[in-house]
Amino acid sequence: MTTKVLFEPFKIKSVEPIRTTTQSERRALLENANYNPFLLAADDVMIDLLTDSGTGAMSAAQWAAVMTGDESYAGSRSYYAFRDAVRDIFTLPEVIPTHQGRAAEHLLFSQVCKKGDLVPNNTHFDTTRANLECCGVEALDLIIEEGKDPYSQHPFKGNMDLVALADVLEKEKDRIPFVIITITNNSAGGQPVSMENVVGVKRLVEPYGIPLFIDSARFAENSYFIKTRESGYKNKSTLEIARELFSHADGALMSCKKDGMANIGGFLAVRDPELAAKLRDTLILTEGFPTYGGLAGRDLAALSLGLYEALEEDYLRYRIRTVAYMATKLLEQGVPIVEPPGGHAIYIDAGRLLSHLGPEAFPGQSLVCALYLVGGIRAVEVGSVMFGSQDEQGNPIYAPNELVRLAFPRRVYTQSHFDYVVEILTQIAEKADQLPGLDISYQPRFLRHFTSHFQPRHAFQNENQLCLEPS
Ligand code: F0G
Repeated sequence: MTTKVLFEPFKIKSVEPIRTTTQSERRALLENANYNPFLLAADDVMIDLLTDSGTGAMSAAQWAAVMTGDESYAGSRSYYAFRDAVRDIFTLPEVIPTHQGRAAEHLLFSQVCKKGDLVPNNTHFDTTRANLECCGVEALDLIIEEGKDPYSQHPFKGNMDLVALADVLEKEKDRIPFVIITITNNSAGGQPVSMENVVGVKRLVEPYGIPLFIDSARFAENSYFIKTRESGYKNKSTLEIARELFSHADGALMSCKKDGMANIGGFLAVRDPELAAKLRDTLILTEGFPTYGGLAGRDLAALSLGLYEALEEDYLRYRIRTVAYMATKLLEQGVPIVEPPGGHAIYIDAGRLLSHLGPEAFPGQSLVCALYLVGGIRAVEVGSVMFGSQDEQGNPIYAPNELVRLAFPRRVYTQSHFDYVVEILTQIAEKADQLPGLDISYQPRFLRHFTSHFQPRHAFQNENQLCLEPS
């Protein structure tokens, strides 16, 4: 029997109240946060779609594992459970826990890269790029052309451009310590990478002896896309697909705050024992002893289950369908989004929705502010605030697309929360041409989207222009 409604495949055992705020409260709060929702207190947010990182709900089984976590400094039972889960799923024998993804990045890059190196990726996530650039390394994005077009219906828009990679390898091989593939491709819309593409990358790097690393934050969602979109995988389990994916890798970096189904954690896993020994020596200096790497035993215990829970197919079907459901509703309302929707988020094309604003006026930031003002919803700009920079003459460089990401925390919100978000976006879309541009009034040296301050070019709205309170 098939039904139209796909219910959330879990029951809620523990709830957290959401405090409702009024539009006039939010106006003051946003001004106080300098028009940067990262600077809001979470208690002042009603629906928090800022990130799917560390914001998921753990299962009853994971909470039970937390209670039995082993807090021994060295050789903790929870470390072995975590290590065995990573070995089993990722097929990589040397498992080094870290407190989150960027610690794994920093550890690898600081040991393996030198100034002047070049690292190709389908698209570097912003912390990956920043950690490489901090080591004086050039971070090169080589996504396929379809991945740059928000409206291309290619099933694997996250793929690496193999022709471009072959060219870079030939010309720059001596500068390339390794190649990374990010699955799913977060910065390019949460789009998946096909197995064929991973195999293709491995074939290209192998003759040069250049290792392949996979940035695995959303490996389970990517495995599900392979199962449902790539020929030959329909009858394989997502666990089998994950194993096959990583069998082509020499190493993996993971932020376990996503498909680890836990609130903190990460790892670096490699095949080469010599490299692992070098990495562990540094780990002791920065993260901690190699069997806990900056995590509590209870975190490792929760992760050892979470990595498998992320691969459960009922869960993945519901998760991917939830994103697709919201995408369909938004498209019906004429809200332009990156299509087809990815695995963990909806990306709104703010450049198109706010077409009266050029990139220098940060249309994505304006939409992010409107979402908070009108609906108490928090989202993140993924456009020229996040990726913009300056050339050597000080001229601004803009991002290729001005997007806003609505990320879906795992197992946290239900269908009515998402229906509410659609309703608010529909109201905003009707008056989008009245939203103001913004200027940056303060920015830090790195990762400016987190802490920059903004000033709207005119009053954000008045009562006659935007319907502010949801009716
Ligand atoms: N790689 C990818 C693909 C990511 O999406 C992230 C984090 C990281 C690495 C870094 O991991 O946060 O554990 O240090 N992404 C979050 C996001 C922050 O909101 O997309 P971390």
